[in-house]
Amino acid sequence: MSCRLSVNINKIATLRNARGHNLPNVLQVAKDCQRFGAEGITVHPRPDERHIRYQDVIDLKPLITTEFNIEGYPSKEFVDLVLKVVPNQVTLVPDPPEAITSNAGWDTIKNRNFLKDIVKTFQQKGIRVSIFVNAEEKMVNGAADTLCTRVELYTESYASNYRQDKNEAIKNFVLAAKEAQKVGLELNAGHDLNLENLKFFYQSIPWLKEVSIGHALICDALYFGLENTIQMYLRCLK
Ligand code: PXP
Repeated sequence: MSCRLSVNINKIATLRNARGHNLPNVLQVAKDCQRFGAEGITVHPRPDERHIRYQDVIDLKPLITTEFNIEGYPSKEFVDLVLKVVPNQVTLVPDPPEAITSNAGWDTIKNRNFLKDIVKTFQQKGIRVSIFVNAEEKMVNGAADTLCTRVELYTESYASNYRQDKNEAIKNFVLAAKEAQKVGLELNAGHDLNLENLKFFYQSIPWLKEVSIGHALICDALYFGLENTIQMYLRCLK
């Protein structure tokens, strides 16, 4: 099985919210992404609902025929929503409510007990839990202690250093990915992945299970169209 492409459709909701009507239609776009080959749909609801709204998440559930991944900070409202919707996967992200986007992984050592409780709550409902971490072996190890079964590596630093020296940029990620393998954690990755840097990332870590990609993919779709763009990303993962 090759690496799964999960399309993050938050930007579609941002565009819709700019006008207050239902264009583009987030539900239709999710269906179309799957029709065009996406192997998962990711959403990241935030408390201010500035992009994906809680109601969108509920409405999306019956339309997802691939894999539904809900990511976010595990506030009470978020936990209740996820338990109601029961997606295939929840990705725990430590982003404060005012953050524009996720900007760091969890400190899995400091937050071990908190995360452990949340992981258990979701796993009891049969939801796979992935924890968003920086590419540091000790944070991967800390995640394993929470008894989650996956981690998502935060790839911002890889993406921003890629052009300067891709071999240097990937180093910590390969080490963290090997650590994950050693402690029996499956691996996801995301943030600022794009058509330029994705292939090398996957070639360097071929046991990667899933990438979730939003911003660059939706931007590329303005030029290439959504169907072509999804196919182009899929080709980076084969
Ligand atoms: N993974 C996580 C945990 C995220 O928070 C985000 C951004 O919402 C992504 C992946 C996707 O990042 P990008 O939009 O840069 O592709």
